[in-house]
Amino acid sequence: MSPHADVKLANDYQKLQTAVPSRLYAIEDLPQVSSLADICNRTVSKKNYPLASDVQKNIPIYNLAQYKSDRIAADRLQDEWYEILANGPGVFVVQNMYTDKSLLDATNDAFRQIIEREKSNTRGDHFGHGKNERIWNSFSKHGLQDPKSFVQYYSNPWLARVCEAWLGQQYRITAQTNIVKPGGVAQTSHRDYHLGFQTAEGCSRFPKGLQYASQFLTLQGAVAQSDMALESGPTRFLPFSQRLDSGYMAYRQAEFDQYFDEHWVSLPLKKGDGVFFNPALHHAAGNNTSDVDRSANLLQISSAFGKPMEQIDAIPLVRTCWPDIESLYKTQGLSDSVETVIAAIGEGYPFPTNLDKRPPAPSGMAPSNEQDVMREAIKAGWDTDQVIAALTQMRFDSQP
Ligand SMILES: [Fe+2]
Repeated sequence: MSPHADVKLANDYQKLQTAVPSRLYAIEDLPQVSSLADICNRTVSKKNYPLASDVQKNIPIYNLAQYKSDRIAADRLQDEWYEILANGPGVFVVQNMYTDKSLLDATNDAFRQIIEREKSNTRGDHFGHGKNERIWNSFSKHGLQDPKSFVQYYSNPWLARVCEAWLGQQYRITAQTNIVKPGGVAQTSHRDYHLGFQTAEGCSRFPKGLQYASQFLTLQGAVAQSDMALESGPTRFLPFSQRLDSGYMAYRQAEFDQYFDEHWVSLPLKKGDGVFFNPALHHAAGNNTSDVDRSANLLQISSAFGKPMEQIDAIPLVRTCWPDIESLYKTQGLSDSVETVIAAIGEGYPFPTNLDKRPPAPSGMAPSNEQDVMREAIKAGWDTDQVIAALTQMRFDSQP
């Protein structure tokens, strides 16, 4: 291509840039807190959600004891739940989700046994301050520890009805048990997985559509494993805040946190109640000023979407291709071409993982991924065996 053609191409790009909006949110142009306030300045009542038994502090409450849990009977409930999560307050409570207290006691016993066994190890706990107990992957550990209570617990059709309402009929449940002791402090307000594990700068590299889509790929929830009086600090929510389009980038700003502190709401739960919310909703665990433990099984349910059609294993590819990648690096340094081939071969996303062995950093950021290892390896001049060893260790540490 002639230099003249290069200039013409650049001019054409500039013309196009003025006609088409950016696909990205600008990090230097984050929304003002007033746009959050505009969105959250709404009130809903029972007339908006006819099947709710009550709406308190903008949170609809459903007493499941009044309803049948089969798919046909629950269809209209699911419509309301979907509407709440997508366009309404973003959170609802389901009372009496679990009514068998002996099942909850058996589940709590299994959790206690797991905690005792793990106590000698130091575990990452993003509630921090050593006041709490957390079981990463309580789903798998519960099933291995006490199959009887596990099967009973996870055969509750209400669980399927809630998951289906947001994600459709294919999903993957994960769970983490969290026990906050008296004196446990509150979290700062945040949004959740996926983009809640990124810095604002990291988020800014994801196009707007994906930032919007993220909320539809996960459902957040909690089953109260103990009674949760308000003093024990049940989760605080900012209703409607999931509707701020650029919220994954904006929520970390101090004014947003201050707005949250002034406007959050929270409802007491009874043992066996559930609460479910849109992962983009601004929320935070409360502080426990009571004299009893606050115990929840935190449920995170993932959409089947977002998975590739074929299994790709990076390790054998790195084994055969590393010498060629090295020679590219030797001539070009960490060029676009080297970055591109690393991005093609390595997994760029660290999840799913084993959070016991690879906990989030204290700041809540995601652990490293295969591409990070490959980038480090190429810069440090590792040979094929070294990079394969590092990738294999990461793979091993990520397994349950
Ligand atoms: Fe959270």
